[in-house]
Amino acid sequence: MRVVVSIGGSVLVPELDADRVAAYADVVERLAAEGTSLGIVVGGGAIAREYIGTARSLHANEIELDGLGIAATRLNARLLIAALDGRAIPSPARDYETAGAALRRDDIAVMGGVTPGQTTDAVSAALAEYVGADLLVYATSVPGVFSADPETSADARRYEELSAGELVDAIADVEMNAGASAPVDLLAAKLIERSGMRTVVLDGTDPERIERAIHTGEHDGTDVVPEGNDDEPTYWTRHD
Ligand code: UTP
Repeated sequence: MRVVVSIGGSVLVPELDADRVAAYADVVERLAAEGTSLGIVVGGGAIAREYIGTARSLHANEIELDGLGIAATRLNARLLIAALDGRAIPSPARDYETAGAALRRDDIAVMGGVTPGQTTDAVSAALAEYVGADLLVYATSVPGVFSADPETSADARRYEELSAGELVDAIADVEMNAGASAPVDLLAAKLIERSGMRTVVLDGTDPERIERAIHTGEHDGTDVVPEGNDDEPTYWTRHD
């Protein structure tokens, strides 16, 4: 089974904590040892926001700000690489070809951002498409896809299952509300729709939830199931 896991910076590095990064690395190593082929995309989190906020006050333009964001995602990716003890490529892949080549060698591919004007949500969807992943998992601080921002709206409802087209509509609705946080951005949703990638969006603040979802398909987030493909997948690595 081949899986791309997007680990939000805010779940991997809410603050610099070696034990926390090691806990995610343990899950990744266990999955790899069981034979799962893994591409990991790491987000920027607080450090990206702090650098971007500071540079914005210094009048950096948006492309420059994205450059800082990309650098922050790669810093976080390097922390995970350090914790993976040589099982991963030695530095974050800067493009999909390099990540794909790592998977062909049976290394764990780790990357951050690649190009301005997007986020690692889209990188994850593109990498999943590029490497022909069976499953794309978004481990985020928002526990699934909601009908409104769960932080601010009491009647926000979590979708248990969506088609990719419904995902695009749901994200577009949430993004219409300024400041609302969608767990996956619109470009990523469009890429998921284009590729027909089976996707899970879950609360990634406990890395064992990622492992359980990959083993059994069970989680408390949202399943995005490609149109015309609602059979239960056969690729879960365990059926317990
Ligand atoms: P993130 O993917 O962490 O974005 O990239 P985010 O949506 O702000 O973070 P979460 O999902 O809430 O944790 C951080 C920043 O890096 C730049 C963007 O500026 C983004 O906001 N970036 C990232 C790029 O410009 N291109 C990329 O491919 C990735």
